[in-house]
Amino acid sequence: MRFDILTLFPEIFSGYLNQSLLKKAQDRGLVEVHLHNFRHWSWDRDRRVDDRPYGGGPGMVLRPEPVVECAEDVQAMHPQPGHLVLLTPQGQRLNQALVEQLAQHPRLILICGRYEGFDERVRLILRPQEISIGDYVLNGGEVAAMVIIDAVIRLVPGVLGDEDSSVQDSFSGPERWLEGPQYTRPREYRGYRVPDVLLSGDHEAIRRWRQEQSRIRTAQRRPELLQPPLDKDSQSGT
Ligand code: ADE
Repeated sequence: MRFDILTLFPEIFSGYLNQSLLKKAQDRGLVEVHLHNFRHWSWDRDRRVDDRPYGGGPGMVLRPEPVVECAEDVQAMHPQPGHLVLLTPQGQRLNQALVEQLAQHPRLILICGRYEGFDERVRLILRPQEISIGDYVLNGGEVAAMVIIDAVIRLVPGVLGDEDSSVQDSFSGPERWLEGPQYTRPREYRGYRVPDVLLSGDHEAIRRWRQEQSRIRTAQRRPELLQPPLDKDSQSGT
């Protein structure tokens, strides 16, 4: 899987890209990450990428040419067409189902903004999928891009070892419940004992216990996840 990241601050990614799981995935050729500083696509002699908003108002807006032209050139750098993603608090909110959709693309091009946002023509011309990682405003899209990469590579075949498989993760089973409690050694710690069923060796009993614990935890913490999704007709009020 290939990621191309368009950013004004490529150095933000260096520590992250060298962390163990992602590093291993890159060393094994399962994941490639390419950074592109769209300042290099600025038309200005002084490489400015932002300007004051027309109509007035606070802050600066990213001009369209560096972002659009960088995205077009990066798209042409590899024969596999990339799926364009714009990180913005105005986008579709990220969840595990969306992560699974993103992981279907062999190549993602992630566009990170800064300042007060993008000139609207970036959206109109590139028609990217717009994604938000939550209802809060970050200083830029870089952290959001790392969140997406982090979640997506867990689903790339071979990135996690077999024993670390993502199928038991929270939100990942058919029911999309939270994961239940986990235990390791010692068997007893400060008076708290590992539940007997986990020591029983009875795989079916363990599977049932885990499923029940997952349901209880979801009911306690995120009861809305247990509700069946509303169908579209009732959502639109028709
Ligand atoms: N850029 C700024 N805030 C963001 C958010 N919440 N999600 C994605 N990109 C962002």
